[in-house]
Amino acid sequence: MSQSKEQWGSRLGIILAVAGSAVGLGNFLRFPGLAAQNGGGAFMVPYFCALLFLGIPICWAEWTMGKYGGQFGFNSCPAIFGVLGRRPIWRYLGVLGLVIPVVIYMYYVYIESWCLQYSFNYLFGSINLGSDPTHYVQRSKEFFTSVTGDDADGVMLGSSLHQSVIFWAITFAVNFYFIYRGLSKGIEAFCTWAMPIMGLAAIVVLVRVLTLGTPNPDLPNQNVMNGLGFMWNPKPKVAGGSWWQPLLNADVWMAAAGQIFFTLSVGFGVIINYASYLKRKDDVVLSGLTASATNEFFEVCLGGLITIPAAFVFLGAIGTEGSSFQVGFKTLPVVFQYMPGGRFFGAIWFFMLFLAAITSSLSMLQPAIAFLEEGLKIGRKASVALLGLVTALGSFFVIWFSKGLAALDTMDFWVGTAMIFVLAMVQVFLFSWSFGVKKGVRFAHIGAEMKLPRWFPFVIKYVTPTYLTAVFVMWCTNNLGGYLSQLKQGGVPLLSVCVIATVLVFFLILIKIAGPRWGAESKDTSTDTSAFPVIAEGKS
Ligand code: ALA
Repeated sequence: MSQSKEQWGSRLGIILAVAGSAVGLGNFLRFPGLAAQNGGGAFMVPYFCALLFLGIPICWAEWTMGKYGGQFGFNSCPAIFGVLGRRPIWRYLGVLGLVIPVVIYMYYVYIESWCLQYSFNYLFGSINLGSDPTHYVQRSKEFFTSVTGDDADGVMLGSSLHQSVIFWAITFAVNFYFIYRGLSKGIEAFCTWAMPIMGLAAIVVLVRVLTLGTPNPDLPNQNVMNGLGFMWNPKPKVAGGSWWQPLLNADVWMAAAGQIFFTLSVGFGVIINYASYLKRKDDVVLSGLTASATNEFFEVCLGGLITIPAAFVFLGAIGTEGSSFQVGFKTLPVVFQYMPGGRFFGAIWFFMLFLAAITSSLSMLQPAIAFLEEGLKIGRKASVALLGLVTALGSFFVIWFSKGLAALDTMDFWVGTAMIFVLAMVQVFLFSWSFGVKKGVRFAHIGAEMKLPRWFPFVIKYVTPTYLTAVFVMWCTNNLGGYLSQLKQGGVPLLSVCVIATVLVFFLILIKIAGPRWGAESKDTSTDTSAFPVIAEGKS
């Protein structure tokens, strides 16, 4: 059996790396807005259903499949799928585990660089919304536009070097520096110190928010308790309805499922890659659960208590409205402007977001690095250079077509939402039906610190696929029409889809080149019974 050369340094290291991949902008920006807009406390019903029946089961399946593939020396999604499914078609389906993280990285790294830029500007006092509160909102919008270029295409990459491009370049370089250093010395080392710092920074901001009291005595209703109530009390989606109405709304269930995938980094091709560096006797069950629980702590207990309550306290219900970007990058600066010590807390908050984002974006690069190295048999320098080039081109595309953040939005729709559902379905089918749940459970139990719950085989085989299909069909019915008609009109949405298609074809060609070699490699090990860990374990 040819176990992969690279390995995690410690058990805590991989848990922090997976948790780091999970904890990201989704926890602090995407989740609070979604919850507040989709019924507050009522949203938590579909949210926890999705966590229980989709997120955690698929996460365990990914950890198990990843570790299994790693026993054959494979670390990339296509190779691991090939070993598990034993038919070439699975290798090609594994392309999703490369396209998803790589394309998401192309726009995610840009948002990540905004966080660094905001933090820097808070630190050096350049975010100044003036002294007249009636201008705060307008000034904040203007600052956002100056950072993102959402008013016109091409402004960021014009003749002079824009500050945002410098921050993007720094962020990009930091990511590739840690990727170049490797799994243990790069990703693991970074996550091991970044995660506690993030936790600490989030707690500092949380304490500040929870001790705000009633900052404006003229508006006694805008206090912390009401802010928390606004976020967490079950409430109707539209005024005048009953609190349980969101539970009858398909959009709410879809939003919850999409959020679970995005936040846990499930269906990204990331966990499968990280788990492939585990040793045969390493635990996957408790580790998978611990990483997911850590993510939920950051999302519900920290993310859920900061953004929306703070916006409510200073701006009332109206301040909580709008997209994640609206709340995160336009409303929060207004909140920090009102907040005592706002400059300090703004700097900490955005630096914390930057760390959260970087631990996630590192995990989006590693799957493709692993693929290039094992597929093309090239070294670290070459794989980093090649992936750096591909992702830089994609990122330039996002930066250039910044008007209305159209390129970013289209990529997020087709890859950050639609493809994730598809990969999740492929994985569930592969694990449950092609590889086999019984075999999967036996393999997961090798070295496991706890047993998978009794309900796991039934859920992953029947409940998860049914739930997933139902949500996906609803999602397609409600969303696909609008986005397809956008494509028909051409322009940036169509170009963005062409970029995604190019990345897809690029990786498919490489899989075609690498595939036969992998087939031979995995067959080579067939005479060695230990190459089939499940069978070997069954006999022992
Ligand atoms: N899981 C990462 C996030 O929540 C991608 O941002």
